[in-house]
Amino acid sequence: MTIVINMREGVDRRKIKVAARFIEEGKLVAFPTETVYGLGANALDRNAVLSIFSAKGRPADNPLIIHISDFEQIYALAEDVPKEAEILAKHFWPGPLTMVLPKRENVPKETTGGLESVAIRMPAHEIALSLIRESRLPIAAPSANISGKPSPTLAEHVVDDFYGKIECIIDGGETKIGVESTVLDLTTWPPLLLRPGGLPLEKIEEVIGEVQIHPAVRGKEVDLAKAPGMKYKHYSPNAEVIIVEGKKERVKERMKELVNEFKERGIKVGVMATGEFYEADECFNLGESEEEIAKNMFRALRELDKRGVDVILAEGVEERGLGLAIMNRLRKAAGYRVIKAE
Ligand code: TXA
Ligand code: MG
Repeated sequence: MTIVINMREGVDRRKIKVAARFIEEGKLVAFPTETVYGLGANALDRNAVLSIFSAKGRPADNPLIIHISDFEQIYALAEDVPKEAEILAKHFWPGPLTMVLPKRENVPKETTGGLESVAIRMPAHEIALSLIRESRLPIAAPSANISGKPSPTLAEHVVDDFYGKIECIIDGGETKIGVESTVLDLTTWPPLLLRPGGLPLEKIEEVIGEVQIHPAVRGKEVDLAKAPGMKYKHYSPNAEVIIVEGKKERVKERMKELVNEFKERGIKVGVMATGEFYEADECFNLGESEEEIAKNMFRALRELDKRGVDVILAEGVEERGLGLAIMNRLRKAAGYRVIKAE
């Protein structure tokens, strides 16, 4: 049985206690963060962590992020905390930045997917922070979706994937950012961007200078490197996703042509649009700003899928600011199917 706790009106101490008790008992609790919903368990309990992997159907070598509520907790998880990590935390925590550091021995290998490093972040969400504080434990939490599906930005998405399979789901309404945290590896110098996310790369560089970008961030999938998460298919709805990239005006024209071509062939077509209206079978308007697009993207993929479209056409965006994270997620959802509008 799954208990769904409504906390849309804000943190409720009594209800947080119930959820924290589940964490202490080694059970699974899904909770909102500012990025996406997480599927949480005690990060230091091997069995609890293993049940995250089995609930999600996640490969055992794809490591989890550990969530903390107070900066001091970092020293109990990471062996070495460089000055830059402290500076970044001062600027961006709580917030959508995950830092990869050498792990301490007490962090189970199950949590880190066998790696000697550990990923840590402090989420900027009162429900998440209260849950961590109340349980007095670091909480390992991947995005609360079945492995390979779009990340959840509403409790309803978590219910769709996990109802009946986990102990508890805390409903805190829609998540604010909508893409996952930025993952930065600080075990090498210069630091290496492993996953673009809610904190734009440019902001990190303003604080610590140049950051290297892992080739998988922009391009095609590469072999297992330092981020095992990169090699798995992600965010894929059942429909086939196709991205149309190029100059804005040309993209919109090409999208319209493609919508017509699919309709003529009897293929049910959905569109993820940015401001423009398309005469597709289903049209989901993401909004025009980077922030709106990031916030709505995963929800659009899930909803268009539910409406039974065969194909989802998506407009590409520029790869700067949040655009880097948006395109990274879109390309994965599309299995790297891209049409250039020339
Ligand atoms: O915003 C987020 O980060 C959300 C919320 C719930 O906090 N969580 C999330 O977790 O997106 P997940 O498991 O879906 O993605 C974690 C990413 C994966 O790409 C994983 O490979 C990488 O972080 N990662 C975790 N530990 C790592 C490590 N030690 N070294 C390199 N990459 C690591
Ligand atoms: Mg995920």
